[in-house]
Amino acid sequence: MKTTRLGLLGCGTVGGGLVDLVERERPRIRARYGVDLEIRHILVRDLGKRRPGVDRRLLTSSAIDVIDDGCDIVVELIGGVHTAGAFVRRALGSGKDVVTANKALLAAHGDELFEIAAARGLSIGFEASVCGGIPIVRVLHRGLAGDSIESIRGIVNGTCNFVLSRMEEGLDFDAAVRAAQQRGFAEADPSLDIDGYDAAQKIRILSSLAFDAPITHESVIGIRTVTRAEIERAHAGGCVIRLVAEAERMPGGVTLRVRPQEIDAADIFGTIRDEFNVVAIRGRATGEVILTGKGAGAQPTASAVLADVIEIAQLRRGRGVEARDVERPIARPVAVRAAAAW
Ligand code: NAP
Ligand code: HSE
Repeated sequence: MKTTRLGLLGCGTVGGGLVDLVERERPRIRARYGVDLEIRHILVRDLGKRRPGVDRRLLTSSAIDVIDDGCDIVVELIGGVHTAGAFVRRALGSGKDVVTANKALLAAHGDELFEIAAARGLSIGFEASVCGGIPIVRVLHRGLAGDSIESIRGIVNGTCNFVLSRMEEGLDFDAAVRAAQQRGFAEADPSLDIDGYDAAQKIRILSSLAFDAPITHESVIGIRTVTRAEIERAHAGGCVIRLVAEAERMPGGVTLRVRPQEIDAADIFGTIRDEFNVVAIRGRATGEVILTGKGAGAQPTASAVLADVIEIAQLRRGRGVEARDVERPIARPVAVRAAAAW
C-alpha cells in the first residue's frame, strides 16, 4: 500500500488535533479505506513551543520544506488570508492537492484558488471550514445534490454560542470571550467571531454550495452589543439569544443575514449551547434536514480535515497517481468544489 504523505502547515488547535487523530486512527483508516497516512513535515512559527504528542523532528519554520519536499497533500491550518493564500497557491502550483479549514481564505480568494486547482486537475478539500465536525459540506454538495435548496439557517459560530451560553450563567462578555479563546474556539483575531464575520464567511460558503445564484443582499451584525440584561430579559420570557446566520433564495438572488435572534428555549436552535452548531437546510423535495454537533475545537475539526484527506488520497489512488507523478499537473476532477459565488 502506497503511503500518502501529508505536509502540515500549522500545529495549533486544529493542527495539533490532526496530529493526534492521524496517530490514533491510522490503523483503522488503513484497514477500512486502504489509505496509509504519514505526516512528513509540520510548519510552525515557534519551534520552541511545547507541543505534547508531536514528534519534534517533523517541525520546521520553513514553508518550502513542507510544500516542496515530497508531500502529496498540503494541509493548511495556519489561518489568515495573505500568508495562507501564498502557501496554498504555491502548493497548487507545484501539483499538490490541498485541504484547508480556512473560511477566511476561501471567502476572500476561493474563486481564484478553485480555478487554479481545476486548471491543474487538483482538489481543495474544505469540509472543516464550516461547522467544525459537522459534515455539512458533503451533505450539501453530495447528499442533497438531487434537490433544490430554498434556505439555510444555522448557528455556525462556536465562539459566539459559547460566549452567549456563558453569559446566561452570569459571566461577563470579556471573561466569556477569554474562556472561548482558552478553549481554542476563537479565531486568532476574536473580533472576526464576535462581530459576525466568521459566521458570514461560513454562510457564504454554504450558499455557494447550495444555490446557483448570486448573493444580492448581505447584512452582518455580531454579538458585541448583546448585554446581560437582554439575555436575562429573554430568559424571563422562556427564550435565549443566539447568533443566527441565514441564506434564502429570493427572486434574482440570495439574501444573507447574520444577526442575534431571540429564540424559544424549547426550539431546537434554543437548545444549542457552548461550541455546538446547528444547521437547518430546507429543500424543495426533502423538506427540512437538520444537523447538529461540535462546530469548533481540536478533535471535531481535525476529524473533518481527516475526512477530506482520506477522500483525496483515495482519489489520487483511483487516478493512478504515484509518487513520481506528483510534480507534474494531473488531469482529474476536483473532489469538492465550491461554486463561484463569493
Ligand atoms: P491556531 O491555534 O492559532 O494555530 C495556528 C498554527 O499555525 C500555529 O501552529 C502557528 O504556529 C502556525 N502559524 C500561524 N501563522 C504562521 C506563519 N506565518 N508561519 C508559520 N506558522 C504559522 O489556529 P487554529 O485554531 O488551529 O485555526 C487554524 C485554521 O482552522 C483557521 O483557518 C481557523 O479559522 C480554522 N478553524 C479553526 C477551528 C477551531 O476550532 N479552532 C475550527 C474550524 C476551523 P505556532 O504554533 O508556532 O504559533
Ligand atoms: N472561530 C470559529 C468558531 C472556529 O468559533 O466557530 C470554527 O470555525
